[in-house]
Amino acid sequence: MSKKVLVLPGDGIGPEIVEQAVRVLDQVNSQFNLGIEHESALLGGAAYDETGSPLPDVTLEKAKASDAILLGAVGGPKWDGLDMSVRPEKGLLGMRSNLELFSNLRPAILYPQLADASSLKPEIVAGLDILIVRELTGGIYFGQPRGIRTLENGEREGFNTYVYSESEIRRIARSAFDAARQRNKRVCSIDKSNVLEVTVLWKEIMEEVAKEYPDVELSHMLVDNAAMQLVRAPKQFDVMVTGNMFGDILSDAAAMLTGSIGMLPSASLNEKGQGMYEPCHGSAPDIAGKGIANPLATILSVAMMLRYSLGEKDAANAIEKAVSDVLDQGLRTADIASEGSKTVSTSQMGDAVLAALKA
Ligand code: NAD
Ligand code: IPM
Ligand code: MN
Repeated sequence: MSKKVLVLPGDGIGPEIVEQAVRVLDQVNSQFNLGIEHESALLGGAAYDETGSPLPDVTLEKAKASDAILLGAVGGPKWDGLDMSVRPEKGLLGMRSNLELFSNLRPAILYPQLADASSLKPEIVAGLDILIVRELTGGIYFGQPRGIRTLENGEREGFNTYVYSESEIRRIARSAFDAARQRNKRVCSIDKSNVLEVTVLWKEIMEEVAKEYPDVELSHMLVDNAAMQLVRAPKQFDVMVTGNMFGDILSDAAAMLTGSIGMLPSASLNEKGQGMYEPCHGSAPDIAGKGIANPLATILSVAMMLRYSLGEKDAANAIEKAVSDVLDQGLRTADIASEGSKTVSTSQMGDAVLAALKA
């Protein structure tokens, strides 16, 4: 039976990096005889310009009917003035909530060849392999009430609600513990339980779920300390589990440990095993259209898609090995360039990964 992948290029560098990732997908598809079919749809600013909605119904329907979704990135200055309800980012958030993609896996792995590209000393990051498990469909991103209101004195105030139910915490906890079982069996839960009640409950439920996983060690850390520890001694972590907003922020910080945000892939999964795969970075408006964006986070997201939603471990491994081979050859996009490396464009990086796959 064929597997269906929906491709959503999005905005800014999205189409440039997705083009390379789709070439890689096509290559493994024929090389490993995977029977994958893919088609494209609109999301984000590109969808708003065409249809007036950042998440057209047809995109959502196609997404629901797919086994997996590959996304570039959405957003950009062109749409920044729009009402919140139609901003490109709303399209992405709508995909996550409509498909219940609550479990966001963001692995920060340092390819040894990139130790020089990290902003931290090589000995601090050498061998780094951590997994951030970010809750993706709840927390302050989705809590009600929210908005901007006018007070009696005529002043306006903005407000959002940070809320998590026990069941939402329980399912993301299980994702983190399950992932830890496949790794070094340590989960560090990140909260702000010294100030926020919602994370007092978070911590309590983490402890409760930990009892189902006696083989996994659970620890807790406050988020401000966690941000500091990530740049002080990141290798102390195995799996970090946290809420939507803390996970957003900590994963960008973790990205830099790996050399560039252009290296960090992600998987967003629901309980059915359906997933959306995207780089952790955004649409990078400052470099869009220049052909210099790093496509590796998106290419590595294809590998995650093959592994987590399509059950094609060999093809996933082949992509990851091809990326490593290309780095061995000294090829680098500008964001990961270092002394002695050869700087290549987005499409040349795609060419090199394809060549390594065929070798
Ligand atoms: P960003 O991640 O787009 O860019 C931050 C910096 O990293 C920029 O200097 C950019 O050039 C660089 N960068 C990012 N990806 C790169 C790559 N592949 N190769 C080389 N350099 C790369 O973050 P931002 O500038 O804060 O946001 C820009 C827009 O993207 C905003 O509209 C934001 O809402 C959106 N955004 C979307 C997503 C997503 O679609 N998942 C994620 C984050 C931000
Ligand atoms: C990400 C992005 C999104 C988020 C935005 C664009 C809605 O920053 O995927 O990390 O905050 O989740
Ligand atoms: Mn982010």
